[in-house]
Amino acid sequence: MQVINTIAQLQDILVSERAKGMSIGLVPTMGALHEGHASLVRKSVSENDITVVSIFLNPTQFNDPKDLERYPRTLESDCAILEECGAQIAFAPSVGEIYPEPDTRRFSYPPTDSVMEGARRPGHFNGVCQIVSKLFMITDPDRAYFGEKDYQQIAVIRRMVEDLKFRVDIIPCPVIREADGLAMSSRNTLLAPDEKAIAPNIYRILKESKSLGLTVSETREWVVCNINEIPGLEVEYYSIVDGDTLADIEDWSDSASVVGCITVYCGKTPIRLIDHIRYK
Ligand code: PAF
Repeated sequence: MQVINTIAQLQDILVSERAKGMSIGLVPTMGALHEGHASLVRKSVSENDITVVSIFLNPTQFNDPKDLERYPRTLESDCAILEECGAQIAFAPSVGEIYPEPDTRRFSYPPTDSVMEGARRPGHFNGVCQIVSKLFMITDPDRAYFGEKDYQQIAVIRRMVEDLKFRVDIIPCPVIREADGLAMSSRNTLLAPDEKAIAPNIYRILKESKSLGLTVSETREWVVCNINEIPGLEVEYYSIVDGDTLADIEDWSDSASVVGCITVYCGKTPIRLIDHIRYK
């Protein structure tokens, strides 16, 4: 596997591979790779001739500087994981390489980017669109792989792809969970052992909520109450939404695709954990 730090070098390689008829898969990441990322990379490797994995802790999507500061940085072990998964290229540019000038572009795709995470983390999805659009322009991939763990992110990126007419297939990949049900996330390494022990209750309660036969608003209330009853967990929001537009729904019959999206504060620090469940 080659580790590349500059856009020019990456483009030289990709232009010549494409000229040979090779297909290109892109897996954008911010590093701190875990089994969830590995599953995206393996899928890309199985579907493309060349898999490029970007490792770039994108500052423009962090609205809280403390969150950026404490985000784990593990380039060496990341490269070992990528090597094992069969990726051909790790692209690990500096911030100056990607943003030689401040990125002043603005993206707006309501309601996908204005609800839930968008409402609580101003500028977050704008930063995601800035980096993902740059990565698409740099690599011109046939396919790009994103984990469904960040359900809302995929909905926003799909809107951006439609808007800017990128010729790339967005491939959503299922959430990878620990044996206890906790959705894998780079932020899980920040959880203390007692916090790691209570966090799996989030998915357990989401799963239970599917079989209760309650209305949408009763389900919302039941999930929030049950999670908040567990000491150390506090729900920031629980939204039951249309699976494509992410607009709130009031009745199960409002949409053919219904997803519950949750963010929970866990522990004293606290760490924000995100998860979701598909109702239909
Ligand atoms: O999901 C992530 O890790 C990031 O938001 C992404 C897509 C790599 C953009 O920085």
